[in-house]
Order: sequence, then structure tokens, then C-alpha cells
Amino acid sequence: MTTKDIRRLLPYGVAAVLALPLAVLGQGAARAATDYQAEDAVISQGAVAANHTGYTGTGFVDYTNVKGSSVEFTVSVAFAGSSALTLRYANGTAVDRPMDISVNGTVVASGISFPSTADWNTWATKTVTVPLTAGTDRIRATATTAGGGPNLDRIGLDAAADAQAPTRPGQPSCSDIGENGLTLSWGASTDNVGVTAYDLYEHGNKIGEAPGSSTSKALTGLTPDTGYDLTVIARDAAGNTSLASPVVDCTTKPSSDTTPPSRPGTPSASNVTANSADLTWGASTDDRAVVAYDVRSGATVYDTVTGGTSTTLTGLACDSPYSLNVVARDAAGNASAPTDTVSFTTKACTNDGGVPSSVTTSSTGWTIPWGIHWMPDGKSALVTERDDFRVWKVTKDGTKTRVGTVPNTVTTDGEGGLLGVAVDPQWASDHYVYFMHTASEGNRVVRMTYDGDSLTGYKILLQGIKKNRYHNGGRLAFGPDGYLYVSTGEAQTPALAQDKNSLNGKILRMTTDGRAAPGNPFGTYVYSYGHRNPQGLAFDRNGRLWEAEFGNSSKDELNLIKPGANYGWPTCEGSCDVAGMTNPKKTWNVSEASPSGIAIVRNSVYMASLRGERLWRVPIEGDSEKVGTATAYYVGTYGRLRTVTKVPGADQLWLSTTNCDNNGGAADGSDKILRVTIGN
Ligand code: GCU
Ligand code: CA
Repeated sequence: MTTKDIRRLLPYGVAAVLALPLAVLGQGAARAATDYQAEDAVISQGAVAANHTGYTGTGFVDYTNVKGSSVEFTVSVAFAGSSALTLRYANGTAVDRPMDISVNGTVVASGISFPSTADWNTWATKTVTVPLTAGTDRIRATATTAGGGPNLDRIGLDAAADAQAPTRPGQPSCSDIGENGLTLSWGASTDNVGVTAYDLYEHGNKIGEAPGSSTSKALTGLTPDTGYDLTVIARDAAGNTSLASPVVDCTTKPSSDTTPPSRPGTPSASNVTANSADLTWGASTDDRAVVAYDVRSGATVYDTVTGGTSTTLTGLACDSPYSLNVVARDAAGNASAPTDTVSFTTKACTNDGGVPSSVTTSSTGWTIPWGIHWMPDGKSALVTERDDFRVWKVTKDGTKTRVGTVPNTVTTDGEGGLLGVAVDPQWASDHYVYFMHTASEGNRVVRMTYDGDSLTGYKILLQGIKKNRYHNGGRLAFGPDGYLYVSTGEAQTPALAQDKNSLNGKILRMTTDGRAAPGNPFGTYVYSYGHRNPQGLAFDRNGRLWEAEFGNSSKDELNLIKPGANYGWPTCEGSCDVAGMTNPKKTWNVSEASPSGIAIVRNSVYMASLRGERLWRVPIEGDSEKVGTATAYYVGTYGRLRTVTKVPGADQLWLSTTNCDNNGGAADGSDKILRVTIGN
């Protein structure tokens, strides 16, 4: 059994049987402010007073009106990090009373302004961010001018939460391997507070968890004779997660059941439309139980039916012949003989947006081409390769020339590496190009200079985007507004997707010099949130942003992105009824899609699918926010499809494969960029 076969089985094996309800993850530690009264602090050149109203506690400090008068607070915080320090003060004069703030003798904020509050009975607050060490810290506010300090009532401290992630768990191993289960063990992580839980992943999908006190877990409900690639991630109470452990590949024992189900009864088709058909067949019998029927074209599975002996096939191409058979499977993976085929032709096409009409190979010799972005003149594109960090110029006819490598890039032995590329709309004058890549500390957005032949320079625009083995997002796109849009994954830390202060599990919107774009909904880089692993971004003819993202074990999503909206992960996967969550415009079973790039041609969204090994076409209904029936093209024909982009000035797509990765198992250099023509 090849790795690819294993992947194909997974949707019906692990995902179906083992998928556990999502854990309620740490929501990010709550911040509780602690107040310290100035009259209780150590005063140097000042006195406790109570001769004005509005103070809290038993008084306030009246600084002596000299430069150098000070008040020092001794505070205690649980964790090292930046804390928000709020000083409550009154200044009844018309002039500023600036002060330096020091921590443990070092000035951390100098000349902070404490302007007039109109009179001595009116109190105001001033907040500064100060770095504190865990345990006891001395915070001092010292007057820097001859007027002395303002009257100081108290300080409040919004202490930093635990920001230290557990260490990476040690090498996992499998024992007690049976037909349907195994025991996974791993090396314990350590943490400054404590490990709350271990999340267990099969490839990028969470399949279970164990309490932080344990270092093994019995996995049940596995499929016999199936390979599992297993990693472990440790998590603390604040929701900080470790990097994924090294991987262990384990294969369950072959089943003792060797008797396949009987051949199902010959299928018949009815209600054939342009894009769908109903199929019904006769039931199989098995010595144990039939677990699924596969509806196939040749050996390519179009649909898997786990309940009943009929289905409605959707996503069919219009005006196209189909010859389908059905096989029955048992839990051991024994398959019946295929039925006789049923043949039908779908009804005439009614698409006004055109449909894929022909495919040619544009360019060969690739190893995981990931990002593709056309130059403004439309004559060539820049293409990145994920795992060897190379960047190529590819002309419209498919000729490729290497232009450089993106420095400081590392792999994650999973989905990280050199990811998206974007070319500045002003490239003709500034020669700037942008990359998203994985680096030692996490994922970055960087800018380089491309003169049309080679790449030079390297400037980090944004870092601090957490990385992990899987779920690194990575797509870059320029909006019609001239800002750079970035899709980031949740780095296998689902709670980050809901944390508006995190850069992970987001669509970010930024300027070309690395600042948060003006007008962003929260005043930060964040444009939308609640995303799991988004890798598809495309703007439609109305300037609206569409996005595709990978689901966990059930539903992939195509979303219409609105600023500030919450797309649900991890509370919702696919559509749900939870208030405050924005539902996708379309969902797919992860076995039928697992989408990476998207592109829009003639008002239809094209979505390249990895595990589903197909190109989905999703028509947008005019200028509405609705989409019509999705149609699948090339199911299984070219393998795993990664990136799709519109060819400038033509009704054509470039469509790249990812067959050289650890899922596809093909030899390096065997990936391709295909050219798809959209005809009527
Ligand atoms: C006045 C006021 C004091 C204040 C002082 C000052 O004396 O009553 O509370 O501290 O002015 O200018 O510092
Ligand atoms: Ca004073």
C-alpha cells in the first residue's frame, strides 16, 4: 500500500471512527488588573495627602516640587513579559509634570507626559507598557522636571499572562499494535506552569488527546493494515502549545477478516441533470459487515456512501459521459468485485462563465511549486518551490529560469517552507516582491528586490507568526486597494484562531512596508479571524475577497471574507448555528477537496484540491454573495493540485501539482504546471 493509498483510506478510517469532539482549549489566560495605592509605596521627596477629593484608598502622594522626587512600588507578577501599567493622577496646573518609569532601577519609559487635568480634584489615567520579570519587581515613577510629579493616587497592573509554551514532546513510539488500535507513547514535555494536555495528531488532523499527566494513549477504532503518521503537541492552561514532536509512522496489523463483501447489484441512474444524477444499487452481504460503498469511474472513487444503497452524485461536469461502477467494502478494507457499469451523459451546459475545455502541460521538472504570482506586465510569473526555497521566473510559454533563493528559510518537515509570493503592483518602479516563508522562529512575511533577472536584498516586514509542522497557511495576494493580504494557519494551536491578538489563524492585511494597513477592523494586522489553515485567496470582479481553507476531519470551506468577521474555527468546522460566526459559502468533505489555491475566471472560483485531487469550479451567482453548484474536474487525473492562478489576458489558468511531497510520494522533479483553457 502506498502512502497515497493510505491517505485515500483515511477519510473513512481514522477521520470517521476516531474523530473526537473538539477539546475546549485554553482561551488565552485572562488578565486581572492589580492595584497598588501610592500612599502605601516608598516615597522619596513627597508626602501622603488627602486634601483633594476623588482619590481611592486612604490618600494620594503629593510629590515634592523638585526634579527627582519619586514613588516606588513593589509589585509581584506570576509571569515574565510585558505588563500594562496604569497610573492614576491629578495635575491641577496648566503645565505637564513628566516622569520617568523605571523597573528594578532601569528606566523603561522616559519622559512620560502627565498633562493638566484642569484641577486637583480631577483624576486621569496614563498607561505605559513595562517589561517585568516573574516574581517581585520594583516600579518607580520619578519626576523629571523642577515642578515635580503630579499627585499620584495609585497604579494598576495588567500583568502578562503565561506566554511560555511547553517543550516539544519526545520521540513517540507505537506498541500493542493490533488490527484496530495501538498504544502511542511519547517523551514528556516540561513547562514553567505545567502541561495541561497532549494533542495527538495523525498528519495535520487532531485525532485525540491525553491529559498532561500521561505520556501514552491507547488509540482505538483504527483501520487494519493502514499507515498512520503520528505526532504529539503539548499544551498548557494558557493555551500555549509546543512544536510538534518528531513523527512516528506506524502501520496497523492486517485484518484477520479476508472475506470480501458480495458484489452489489447493478446500479441504475435517474434524475440526470447537467451537474448531478441519482444512483441506486443492490445491497451486498458480508460475513461481518459492509461499512461503505464506493461509487467509482474505473478505479477513481467519486463518492463514498456509508449508509444505504443510493446517493445523489453532485459536482458532475455538464454534457459529459459517465460510466460508473460500485464496490462494497468491509472494515478490513476487503472490497467486492465491481458491479457492471451504468452509463449516462449529463445534460447540456448552461454556464455563462465558461468551463474548463482543455488542458496542456505548460512546464515540467518541478518539486512542490507553491506560490505563483504574475508580473504586472503579464509576460512572466514568479514561482516558489516550497522545500528547496528556490524562486523561478516562468514565461507565459512555460520556460523557466532560476532567479534566486529566499534566505533564512527552513522546512517544518510538513507544510512549512517557502510558501506564497506576491509582486508589488508598483513593481515597474520599486522592483519589490514579497514572500511568506518559515524561519527559525516562526513564519515571516519578507520583501526582496527583483530586477527581472535575480533576487537581492531581504527585509523582514512581519514576524512572530507562529509555525508548526502543519497549518502554516502561506498565501499572499494584493487587493485592489493596494494592500497585501496574508493567510496564516493556526499552527496546530486552535485557540489562536479565536485570539484577536494573535497573528495565527487569520487573514492579515498590511502595507508594503510592513505596517498594519489603515482601516483594519481592530487597528491591528488582523482582517478576519477564526481560520484553521487558509491557503486560498482571490479577489472577484467586485473587489471582494474569497478564501479557501482546510477543515480538520469533516468540512473544508470556501468563504467570502468580510473585515472583522469570525469564520468559526475551532468552535465550528464548516457551517454552524453559533451566534457571531460567519458561515462558509460552500463546504466539502475533506476527502473530496482539501483545498489550497483559488483563482477567479469569468466570475467562477476555481479551487485546487490536494487530497481530493481535483479542480473545483464554483460559479458566483452574478454580483450576489451566493454561489451555484460546484463541479469537479480532473478527479484523480493529475494527482494532488496545489495552486491555481489566472493567466493574464487570457481565459486560462495555470494549475500546479504537489505530488512530490510526503503525501504524494512521487519523485522530486515530477510536479507540473498545467495550463487549463476556459471555453464556452
Ligand atoms: C498644590 C496642590 C497639591 C499639589 C501641588 C503641586 O499645592 O494642592 O496637591 O501637589 O499644588 O503643584 O504639586
Ligand atoms: Ca506636589
